[in-house]
Amino acid sequence: MIRRAAGEFVELAQSAVHRYGRFTVALSGGSTPKGLYEILSDPTQTFREQIPWEKAHFFWGDERHVPPEHKDSNYRMAAEAMLFQAPVPEENIHRVRGEETEAWTAASDYEAHLKSFFLVKERGLPQFDLVLLGMGADGHTASLFPGTDVVFEARRMVVPVWLETSEAYRITMTPPVLNNAARIIFLLAGEEKAATLQSVCHGEFHPEIYPAQIISPPNGRLLWLVDKGAAACLPEFKRPSPPGPVSSP
Ligand code: 6PG
Repeated sequence: MIRRAAGEFVELAQSAVHRYGRFTVALSGGSTPKGLYEILSDPTQTFREQIPWEKAHFFWGDERHVPPEHKDSNYRMAAEAMLFQAPVPEENIHRVRGEETEAWTAASDYEAHLKSFFLVKERGLPQFDLVLLGMGADGHTASLFPGTDVVFEARRMVVPVWLETSEAYRITMTPPVLNNAARIIFLLAGEEKAATLQSVCHGEFHPEIYPAQIISPPNGRLLWLVDKGAAACLPEFKRPSPPGPVSSP
């Protein structure tokens, strides 16, 4: 799964730089993509030398409301696993300023940065070449959590989300920005996500319960890369049950 994702990343980076002179990607947090980030920057693997690092721009689909050196920082995870290991110019790293006292300030500053970087016109939207996403066992993606209003946010590009469970804010890109991407890749691993993935892909449309369902790029392509554990409940991958005892005629 990780190697397939790395291949997709290289292909998208090369085609974006060829077409536009740059590659823009919104990274995901969480544990699953860490393996991808490590393999992309690993000098013993074939991916590193194929990536135009100096023309690649790295953003975050969501961030925790913590300083960059905090153990929970999505920026810190990606920086240590990849960005500090590869020849990425500092100005190409566009992190959310999670250290801001107010989560709203961090969100509005990031939205302003997106607008200026992508030269967004009135009512326009940034278009990322690639958005990487994960999914929690509860069906959340980025920081679009079940029961939160942000799942249906249609106007703002970046907002803070209060999480009662962790009693902390997160800052997240909203569905309009995420869905405007040219390519979205979900990376999922683990049996604990299997039932939710089945509901997300084959159940009724209830994004208030399963926010990952809100991800549907009208002008882009959506690719799910999942491991055997996460695919266990998908009908496409259900292993045929072993034949029962053969009854004598
Ligand atoms: C984060 C991510 C979050 C993550 C899921 C899955 O900030 O943690 O944006 O949406 O993708 O929680 O995380 P795992 O990959 O660790 O299962």
